[in-house]
Amino acid sequence: MILVTGGAGFIGSNFVLDWLAESAEAVVNLDKLTYAGNLANLAGLAGDERHVFVRGDIADRELLDRLLATHRPRAVVHFAAESHVDRSIVGPAAFVRTNVVGTFELLEAARSYWQGLELDRKDGFRFLHVSTDEVYGSLGEADPPFSETTPYAPNSPYSASKAGSDHLVRAYHHTYGLPAITTNCSNNYGRHQFPEKLIPLMIANALEGKALPLYGDGRQVRDWLYVGDHCAAIRVALARGAPGETYNIGGDAERRNIDVVHALCDTLQSLRPREGGYRALVTPVADRPGHDRRYAIDATKIRASLGWAPRETFETGLAKTVRWYLDNAQWVAQVKSGEYRKWLETNYGARSGQ
Ligand code: NAD
Ligand code: DAU
Repeated sequence: MILVTGGAGFIGSNFVLDWLAESAEAVVNLDKLTYAGNLANLAGLAGDERHVFVRGDIADRELLDRLLATHRPRAVVHFAAESHVDRSIVGPAAFVRTNVVGTFELLEAARSYWQGLELDRKDGFRFLHVSTDEVYGSLGEADPPFSETTPYAPNSPYSASKAGSDHLVRAYHHTYGLPAITTNCSNNYGRHQFPEKLIPLMIANALEGKALPLYGDGRQVRDWLYVGDHCAAIRVALARGAPGETYNIGGDAERRNIDVVHALCDTLQSLRPREGGYRALVTPVADRPGHDRRYAIDATKIRASLGWAPRETFETGLAKTVRWYLDNAQWVAQVKSGEYRKWLETNYGARSGQ
């Protein structure tokens, strides 16, 4: 079996569902269930004995030791993190605690477990660390995309904490030989994404006829990847990636935010027409402090050495995503808890339209 951390969040839950649909191998899913973790994402696994859910913190060393000793996984796939840049600007402490200290505790537990394995199991063990392209910083308009050798230059507390965790993973391979692999992926979208991130926030607001808050001039660029394609890349990296290597994952789909929002508005308009259209709701608001201008990924290495390629284009993935949110209004209603409303007030209250 494998141990997955953060498997009740956006990407983690997609990974666990896809994994169990494709393989017979069981999953122990360790998740703290922060505001971003949601057991409803895993409802399809009710009664499936291959899925063992454990509520707990990756910084809890005792719990980690117990889980590893009991379940004896052949791999750890590490998604758990605080993941939202705007929240890291408002409150960075949780990002250092989970992303840096939590990853450190997980590495320590994995190292001790791995060192005690018998030789044949030791060779096959993998620690796969899921990270982000934001560790590379921000690109200018004409710069080449990030490759695995681009120097780290994180700009937000979130990306700095992820960079810290990447460095720890690298050091555990270099110093102790822990068979670790790191993947650095671009912006994901798809089902189960918490509606604080650009795409699901815009869909949720549009459906309520609320303003669509576009930061700054809306011309920042992100490289979008459908979540199912990211999960497939992680499976490939786990199966065939070389210990000590890092792999960049991206969709070759650079889009300006304004174009993403317009595409969303047009897709919504075709599926659920609104008088006056959805584009009329777009509202420029104060920019994110330290906002990175452009991310783009060069995914040549994982494409060439591991044979991965995305299946969805931005257009097909976006259409699937919008349809999922339209068909799952109940899911959205359920996550809009008091905590969510409080976040909207904290983040957007001070950004009133420009
Ligand atoms: P998410 O915020 O949707 O989910 C994070 C999950 O981790 C939640 O279920 C949460 O409950 C859990 N968690 C948080 N702190 C924990 C702790 N201390 N112990 C145990 N569980 C904890 O995040 P996501 O968007 O699914 O991102 C998953 C991973 O992928 C993160 O490491 C993130 O940095 C990385 N990543 C995300 C993207 C993206 O576009 N979303 C892109 C590249 C990389
Ligand atoms: O690049 C990978 C990263 O992508 C991941 O590591 C992060 O976990 C993930 O959250 C994401 O970070 P971003 O900051 O790029 O994603 P977000 O959805 O928050 O914002 C995308 C862009 O849209 C960014 O330029 C800011 C802008 N934006 C965002 C929100 C929430 C707006 O214009 N308005 C908004 O209300």
